[in-house]
Amino acid sequence: MSQRTAELLTQRKSLPIWSGRESLVRAVINNDTVVILGETGSGKTTQVPQFLLESQNFKGVIAVTQPRRVAAISLAGRVSAEQGTILGERVGYAVRFDEKSGPETKIKYLTDGMLGRELMSDSLLSRYSVIIVDEAHERTLRTDLLFSALKRIQRHRNSGKRADTKGKAPEHDKENPLTIIIMSATLDAERFSNFFNGAPMLYVKGRQHPVKVYYTENYQEDYVESALRTLYQIHMSHGKGDVLVFLSGQDEIESLNKSINIYADQMPEGKMKILTCPLYAALPQHKQHKIFIPAPPDTRKVVLATNIAETSITIPGIKFVIDTGVAKEKSFVTQNHKGTGMDVLLVKPISKSSARQRAGRAGREGPGVCFRLYTEEAFKNFREAATPEIQRCNLASAVLTLKCFDIDPTSEEYLDPPSEESVQSSLLILYGLQALDEKGKVTALGKQMANFPLDPPWACALLASQEYSCTAEVIKIVSFLSSTSKLLMEPTSEERDTVADMRNKFRHSSGDHLTHLNILHAYEEVKAGNGGLDGPGSKRALKDWCQKHYINERAFAEAGDIAQQLALACRRVGIDPTTSCGDETDGVLKSILRGTFQNCALIQQDGTYRQIVSRLPVKIHPSSTLFGRKVPAIVYDELIFTNNTYARTVSALEQSWIAELAIHNRRSA
Ligand code: CDP
Ligand code: MG
Repeated sequence: MSQRTAELLTQRKSLPIWSGRESLVRAVINNDTVVILGETGSGKTTQVPQFLLESQNFKGVIAVTQPRRVAAISLAGRVSAEQGTILGERVGYAVRFDEKSGPETKIKYLTDGMLGRELMSDSLLSRYSVIIVDEAHERTLRTDLLFSALKRIQRHRNSGKRADTKGKAPEHDKENPLTIIIMSATLDAERFSNFFNGAPMLYVKGRQHPVKVYYTENYQEDYVESALRTLYQIHMSHGKGDVLVFLSGQDEIESLNKSINIYADQMPEGKMKILTCPLYAALPQHKQHKIFIPAPPDTRKVVLATNIAETSITIPGIKFVIDTGVAKEKSFVTQNHKGTGMDVLLVKPISKSSARQRAGRAGREGPGVCFRLYTEEAFKNFREAATPEIQRCNLASAVLTLKCFDIDPTSEEYLDPPSEESVQSSLLILYGLQALDEKGKVTALGKQMANFPLDPPWACALLASQEYSCTAEVIKIVSFLSSTSKLLMEPTSEERDTVADMRNKFRHSSGDHLTHLNILHAYEEVKAGNGGLDGPGSKRALKDWCQKHYINERAFAEAGDIAQQLALACRRVGIDPTTSCGDETDGVLKSILRGTFQNCALIQQDGTYRQIVSRLPVKIHPSSTLFGRKVPAIVYDELIFTNNTYARTVSALEQSWIAELAIHNRRSA
């Protein structure tokens, strides 16, 4: 055993879950399903799969699902190190567009979405002996769908096994039964247990120290500003201890990060320094890693995080928590009586259960303090727990998957069923995309769409690209739009005009989609420069070029990975991913329109735009290259709701294309 592995073993042994490992393993062997509850940081996610592996009772792979890809990747790294093996061998991971695992992999961390995709090729998930559904309290759509699928699979794989074993352990080697473990950080476990036929519940005690909670006297209009003030109050009047601030998203985190650092530079000599560490899902892994590193002496670490730090990730050293009381939540907005709609991300007050989790982060290593930037009255009005995502988001992809398995989405068994309205709306969207026929049966096209790791509208656009011979172009654009990193960075107000001038040369007259493509082609040209270490095409040259244009270089890397995966998926269904239309780019926009006709708006007599399907008035976002221009019709990637409804990533369409689409749809129907 290497010194590092030995060190890690000592750490493992000090985790609260370690002492209970034998009874835990026994419970898992003796039951089809077990629910495990425990404080964040007690060792559930990293240790339970290792205990099971080390017990040698399970032949197949042990899967651990995570709602977030960053958690899946970092956990696999950690557990692989604890096992003393190379990542991708005994311990691996699989997330959308990225996988490190092999034939010898025994423990696999994967996103709940990835496991859902594996169902498509292996409907009984037979390579897995144990499936651990982690962070079950988050109740993401994919986790909930997984619950339904797992219950179905378990009924099939374990049939008859329990009935005749009265009290004795089920005979696990005879066939290939599936053991399910549900892990959750909150106490609302009875639901899970009831859903899985009264599965036993195990409790792991955490190390929780008392946390003193303070509320504000009054409502805080600007909670980011209030967080800044609170942070400096802590910094000036308290000794050692790191701070964790919960905010709603990347934009708030970046803005607070900036203001903290402006003040930090003005701190009096001799005062402790401040080191900020942002943490959000789209941040690259090596930057996220900073939060785990202890701060240097005389420095206070301040972690600025989204609700990703609520339970999925444990951060050492935190003594103070500042809770702004908000999080971004996906909601499905139904647009009209026809029942169609779309997902939007809105900043919403958190639930009581989240607020308690957040406060708990301050008491992991000793007594802590939590500053809630809202009144006690407001807290009392918070919901007990967040509404499960399945009841508030777009189900198109989920419904399509179920349809592929010939399962009626209205008769599936759910932990909490989705509303009839949203199921209907998804059926309509899928029908519009011709993924379903008028009887609601999945079409050949629908089956092809389900093969792509994309939302059905984008899969549809990609399939349509074949007709217009522009698959290469559509793959590139869809990759950018699917990437978590934004391609264009926001210049400072002083530099805005210069940057706009610099970027002018990429501008495509049809709008943002093809402008994105031009930027990519320009980048590839710089890259092809190939001038040695420092010359054109070098890493340095690329970096400079990106900086000069305020372009996020990371977006190219991420989109490039996605494009590769999509190309593979295309090849699998017999589409040549390299077919290019050159400069004849109309087909690119027509393909995009085919998939996202829902996001199409026509100009009105007064010069405003209205969505065709819902009649919703929309404005072109100021960041768009089409801002201020009047064109007959537009198609956009997303809507942003502020005081106005803005369309972002917009392209101009010719009205005849919309008529053409209608004819196409009628003909194929
Ligand atoms: O799942 P749970 O919250 O119960 O705990 P865990 O994720 O298994 O983490 C147990 C401990 O492992 C944490 O308290 C960290 O000290 C450590 N850990 C780490 O150092 N790095 C990681 N990527 C994950 C866990
Ligand atoms: Mg965990």
